[in-house]
Amino acid sequence: MKVLFVFGTRPEGIKMAPIIKEIQKRDKIESYTCVTGQHREMLDQVLEIFDIVPDYDLNIFKKGQSLTEVTTKTLLGLEKVLDELKPDILLVQGDTTTVFAAALAAFYKKIKVGHVEAGLRSGNIYSPYPEEANRKLTGIVTNFHFAPTIANKNNLLREGYDEDSIYITGNTVIDALKYSVKEKYEFGNEILDNIDYNKDVILLTSHRRENWGEPMENIFSAVKRVVEERENVEIIFPVHLNPIVREIANKYFSDLDRVHLIEPLSYLPFSNLMNKVKFVITDSGGVQEEAPSLGKPVLVVRNETERMEGIEAKTAKLIGTEYSDVYNNIISLLDDKKLYDEMAKAINPYGDGNAAKKIVDIIEKIH
Ligand code: UD1
Ligand code: UDP
Repeated sequence: MKVLFVFGTRPEGIKMAPIIKEIQKRDKIESYTCVTGQHREMLDQVLEIFDIVPDYDLNIFKKGQSLTEVTTKTLLGLEKVLDELKPDILLVQGDTTTVFAAALAAFYKKIKVGHVEAGLRSGNIYSPYPEEANRKLTGIVTNFHFAPTIANKNNLLREGYDEDSIYITGNTVIDALKYSVKEKYEFGNEILDNIDYNKDVILLTSHRRENWGEPMENIFSAVKRVVEERENVEIIFPVHLNPIVREIANKYFSDLDRVHLIEPLSYLPFSNLMNKVKFVITDSGGVQEEAPSLGKPVLVVRNETERMEGIEAKTAKLIGTEYSDVYNNIISLLDDKKLYDEMAKAINPYGDGNAAKKIVDIIEKIH
């Protein structure tokens, strides 16, 4: 059996890596990887950490390109790869534009699609944008839905998918985390090695398209006010390479000593940093899944989330993007020890670290 993994961005790489490693142990399956290169530097960081050398690289990256360009270049590039390789199954992970376009390319060739991290839904087609649509569009052409949780499976059942095509596997993000987080970790980075982690060190990430503009300005100005008012607070913000995000980050934070704007971190330092900070403020999907597993409270700066498991377990709180909500929630988490302790409990609603093995077992059986 030939399996082709297709991925294009940082989070897809991190969450595919455990499956690629697992499949390489199985004699019955020939596996190949194709990266679209929707991300470049941020994807290459992941390939290096997990020691993955892609068989195909569509190299579609161009700074600031539109969703249409990503979609059409992926479709055209994959057509050639699929004609040459003729895989039995194409695996995609998550909800990026690479995922949707790759699944569609496979469908056009009547190649079976396995969708890893299937069934996540926020209920709002514009938030996250365009990811909610990407997930739904991918679902339509998917033969095997690998749903991380029961809630994700239920979302698919509600949309009419056949129960026999849905498998609950956990999320491979937890497999990756188990591999990366170490009790003692040296960053080899002057800023990160010299911060006093007994202070109120907060990790911040933000990149979602629906937060560009006013919501992101609100989030960053609320964080700025907290830093100005509280001398014990240090913010570490590995800034996404998107120039829109970088411009707003620089506007609010470049003159603040206790806000450390750093380049995107490779996955090992990033996950170990998450393990050391007091709490996390983020609009990231993956970070929302990782932090609860490490017992770190998460303030989710979005209006909707498809990851309700962390919210229901009260490790994560959905705080929106209004200035006063963001400010008040950060202050509460800093000042209210009871609230902090309630949120700082390690839970694993997203998986037990064996998702990759489960997925590969299923692929072996279904073929
Ligand atoms: C993409 C995904 C999003 C995912 C995120 C993970 C889509 C539509 N969006 O968003 O779902 O949460 O990746 O990070 O699929 N850039 C670089 N180098 C890189 C990566 C990005 O310079 O390695 C810059 C470029 O200017 C690029 C811009 O960031 O044009 C945006 O990249 P893009 O892949 O279009 O969207 P993301 O915001 O990264
Ligand atoms: N991450 C990383 N370096 C960083 C920021 C994030 O390695 O500087 C990892 C993080 O651990 C998680 C993934 O990237 O696994 C999340 O990616 P991102 O927030 O870009 O995308 P999303 O998950 O929102 O799609």
